[in-house]
Amino acid sequence: MSAGDEARIPLFANRPAIAELIPEIARRQRAVLDSGRWILGPELAAFEEEFAAYVGRRHCIGVANGTEAITIALRAHDIGPGDEVVVPALTFVASAEAVINAGATPVFADVDAATDCITPATVESVLTDRTRALLPVHLFGNVAPMEELNALASSRELLVVEDAAQAVGATYRGRRAGALGDAACFSFYPSKNLGATGDAGAVLTDDAEVAARARRLRHHGTSGPGVHAEVGYTSRLDDIQAASLRVMLPHLDSWTSARREVAAGYAAAGLGEVVQLPRLTEGTESAFHLYVVRTSRRDELVARLGKRGVEARAYYTMPLHRQPSMVKWAGENSLPNAEVLAAEGLALPMGPSLEPKDVERVVEAVVAAL
Ligand SMILES: Cc1ncc(COP(=O)(O)O)c(C=O)c1O
Repeated sequence: MSAGDEARIPLFANRPAIAELIPEIARRQRAVLDSGRWILGPELAAFEEEFAAYVGRRHCIGVANGTEAITIALRAHDIGPGDEVVVPALTFVASAEAVINAGATPVFADVDAATDCITPATVESVLTDRTRALLPVHLFGNVAPMEELNALASSRELLVVEDAAQAVGATYRGRRAGALGDAACFSFYPSKNLGATGDAGAVLTDDAEVAARARRLRHHGTSGPGVHAEVGYTSRLDDIQAASLRVMLPHLDSWTSARREVAAGYAAAGLGEVVQLPRLTEGTESAFHLYVVRTSRRDELVARLGKRGVEARAYYTMPLHRQPSMVKWAGENSLPNAEVLAAEGLALPMGPSLEPKDVERVVEAVVAAL
């Protein structure tokens, strides 16, 4: 059979899993419409409670997207102008945008050569007396070494805010991503492992005062009827989106297990003989948001996989310190591991709807291409 006869294998293999839930999502969203409680209503409150319990945090504050979750989390801890926040040089641009939008200065640290996350070793050299916070990004679903980062942070009195946008459902030493720093931020952008039917995000914390301030910031700094204690944002997670998230959340763990089976299947089928497989932080179970392998022949591999009906995509090919929007904050630090990952990383198909025969086909295609 030629490649053209076979179904294309998509990069994000989650459509069938979500399609099954659409009738229920539509029913629950319709109920929200009928209720007329569209903003800061009971559906949002219920989701916040359920998601806080899922992650293992006291408070969840639903916001409009993952980027504003980070900005609001930083501002809720009084981080702003004059403060430096350490951000990985290789992540989605939103991690750094959010710091800048809070008025603070992002300082780029290299990622670890193996695990794609910041570690104390990569962070230490960029700390200054203006550093106020670390923003570890749990990239691709792997979790940064949080015990070590927390230890470094507490020795320097720094705040740790997890960017857990890609790691919902991942665990680190038995605890969930999002329950590991002082605060955590999630995105529920539709392609995320837990995705809404539009934009959505959340801030998680155990600190009641921080939670109260984040609630205020997402709603124009409102501190009482007609009173605005500080300048905030229009950044509420709306009830229509909360309804979709409440339908999906109970399925997240089984989707995550399916993703892990896909990853195990790739390894068992011998993918590691031709490309470098993802290497995880010790003690983590990844959420495998993306399954990113490395090869110095990345660009030819993408083209050849495409011809065989396998979708693959290089992410973050331009590290943040090279982005035109970030020139002002690029700094002089040398960031070699970020450069290598940008040049060699390639996401292969991943998702709960990928079947063992698809996994085999992807591996066969990669082996044949290289
Ligand atoms: C690592 C990371 N941080 C932040 C964000 C921002 O989330 P959003 O797109 O919901 O603003 C995303 C995803 O888009 C992300 O992948």
